[in-house]
Amino acid sequence: MADFRVPPLVRTGAGCARNTGQILAERGYRGALVVTDPIVAGSPAVRAVLDGVRRAGLALAIHEGITSEPTVEMVETALEAFRLSGADVVIGIGGGSPMDAAKAVAVLARSPGPLPLYEGVDKVPGKRVPLVCIATTAGTGSEVTRYVAVTDEQRNRKMLITSWQLLPDVAVADPELTLDLPPGPTVSTGVDALTHAIEAYVSRRRQPLTDTLALSAIRRIGRALPRAYRAPGDGEARSAMSLAALEAGIAFCNASVALVHGMARPLGAYFGVPHGLANAVLLARVSAFTAPAAPERYREIAVALGQPVAGATPEAGARAAVEAIERLCADLAVPSLSALGVAADRFDAVVESMAADAVASGSPVNNPRDATAEEIAALYRACH
Ligand SMILES: NC(=O)c1ccc[n+]([C@@H]2O[C@H](COP(=O)([O-])OP(=O)(O)OC[C@H]3O[C@@H](n4cnc5c(N)ncnc54)[C@H](O)[C@@H]3O)[C@@H](O)[C@H]2O)c1
Ligand SMILES: [Fe+2]
Repeated sequence: MADFRVPPLVRTGAGCARNTGQILAERGYRGALVVTDPIVAGSPAVRAVLDGVRRAGLALAIHEGITSEPTVEMVETALEAFRLSGADVVIGIGGGSPMDAAKAVAVLARSPGPLPLYEGVDKVPGKRVPLVCIATTAGTGSEVTRYVAVTDEQRNRKMLITSWQLLPDVAVADPELTLDLPPGPTVSTGVDALTHAIEAYVSRRRQPLTDTLALSAIRRIGRALPRAYRAPGDGEARSAMSLAALEAGIAFCNASVALVHGMARPLGAYFGVPHGLANAVLLARVSAFTAPAAPERYREIAVALGQPVAGATPEAGARAAVEAIERLCADLAVPSLSALGVAADRFDAVVESMAADAVASGSPVNNPRDATAEEIAALYRACH
């Protein structure tokens, strides 16, 4: 048995976000709290979207306080802004950080806090405030997922909250909003999407509907991400990336992520490595570890990445997939952890705690190859 869920309205296409006001007015909302960050709020394309919402008759309160990946404190401040605003809908606009913060606000506005109460699976009670998520990266896919990732700084922990209550009512993926994204975040958010697709495709919780979406996302990303990296204004590549991030988001929402994501979150919590970059740093090595346990699956990934593996054994196909992932990451200049400034002495001191946290996150149980804490620590070291 498998269940498959998506938000009731998923809107895609170049320029589509400009009609968001119409959707909100049709539903009878009168005021919105917009949760975002200062860079996104300053983007002319985003301003045009918000002007459209105003023109549709809604009062807007704009909260730009999500200045990095969200923390419990940032969510509490945004919640205060919601209470002061009198809004009846929350709009998260930006990358995964503002969208996740908006989801958390929509929950806490109707249920008692603090947010860490809801860490884990299906802990979120009752109702939430109506929620619209508009992506400006391609990307986390948060606009179509049931997840929120928020750092609890007191515990050095990137919490994962999983609940169907977190699936937005409206998801918008408009490639025009991603045209301003510089090459660095284009790569890190794009490799995050690729990781979602690969992990969903090999996950022990995969299902036929997620397979189709995951392979389509891998195909699109393999072709479009190098183009979007080299030529940020390439509208065709941005459209492909925007759709791919959405497909990958739907896929992993319904099939889960696995070992790479389990290992990425501690890198964020201990060293502040941004989520997409953490996945990017780990993806090739962890794929090399996992591929021998699911060679047929990785051979299909090789095909999706354009490798000539027709007639190859599954094992040879899987090796070709790992090599293609390595080449793609090299082409996109994905750095090592040491190149990112993760100091060797601090890294050695916490690598075992990070491995324990990765295991405790629950994501590695979805990986087709089981990994012990020692093997995870060795993988971290290989990526330093
Ligand atoms: N909920 C989910 O399903 C899910 C999935 C994956 C990741 N996440 C979480 O999402 C967060 C990361 O999100 P992200 O990778 O999208 O990064 P982000 O939201 O932190 O944005 C990264 C940077 O890009 C900038 N930016 C965003 N859009 C821009 C645009 N169009 N033009 C110029 N600059 C722009 C932002 O201002 C920021 O500086 C992490 O906390 C991660 O754990 C959530
Ligand atoms: Fe991710």
